[in-house]
Amino acid sequence: METNNMNTMTPMPRIGDKAPSFKAKSTQGTIAFPQDFQGKWKILFSHPADFTPVCTSEFMTFATMAKEFEDLNTQLVGLSVDGLYSHIAWLRTIQEKIEYKGMKNVEVKFPLIEDITMEVAKLYGMIQPGESNTQAVRAVFFIDPQDIIRAIIYYPLALGRNFDEIKRTLIGLQTVDNFGVALPANWRPGDEVIVPTAGSCGVAKSRMEGEEKGLKCYDWFFCTKEISKEEVEAKLYRK
Ligand code: BEZ
Repeated sequence: METNNMNTMTPMPRIGDKAPSFKAKSTQGTIAFPQDFQGKWKILFSHPADFTPVCTSEFMTFATMAKEFEDLNTQLVGLSVDGLYSHIAWLRTIQEKIEYKGMKNVEVKFPLIEDITMEVAKLYGMIQPGESNTQAVRAVFFIDPQDIIRAIIYYPLALGRNFDEIKRTLIGLQTVDNFGVALPANWRPGDEVIVPTAGSCGVAKSRMEGEEKGLKCYDWFFCTKEISKEEVEAKLYRK
């Protein structure tokens, strides 16, 4: 494994940072991240350990949803501090033996990185010693086609992730970019979106008076408009 920065004191990457680059072995061969996935969104996520139950339920869920992420121009990349042979044996066990919540014969086709030296996990701040010194937490990095980190979610070892929320976050980020809007609590495609506040009081006043077409204002700083589910999806799924 080679990284662009071998310093163990590397600060944790944050939202708005360029995704740190690295080269590593994976179940799909050696990958150069993020360069190998140019023009795509990337979800880089870590799990604590192979052959553990929460991680198994997560991998089965993520792999079952893989086509949904592919349709959103998104590459999934997993990582744990286990070695490649462990990854291969675990993924084979999942495919050949585990039937869980209606999912069976689940093949994990996205790359799963081996990181026995923990270099990538440390580079991305996935080792959080208060939780574990020896295993990565459940981190999820959302990285855009320009290789900028756009959102980060961390879960502890004992709590499996909500993959519907991971998909909602990805769709939300893409919609923010596609329409230049912000999105309210619990937003889903078809819900009203937030029109960013204009700089001047004059504009805010005219918004309150409903002079800007199609705006609904709850107060001068909080105006929304409708974007239909079809409009949102037309941009998400364009080829
Ligand atoms: C699990 O995936 O089941 C797990 C992994 C590490 C610590 C606790 C649970």
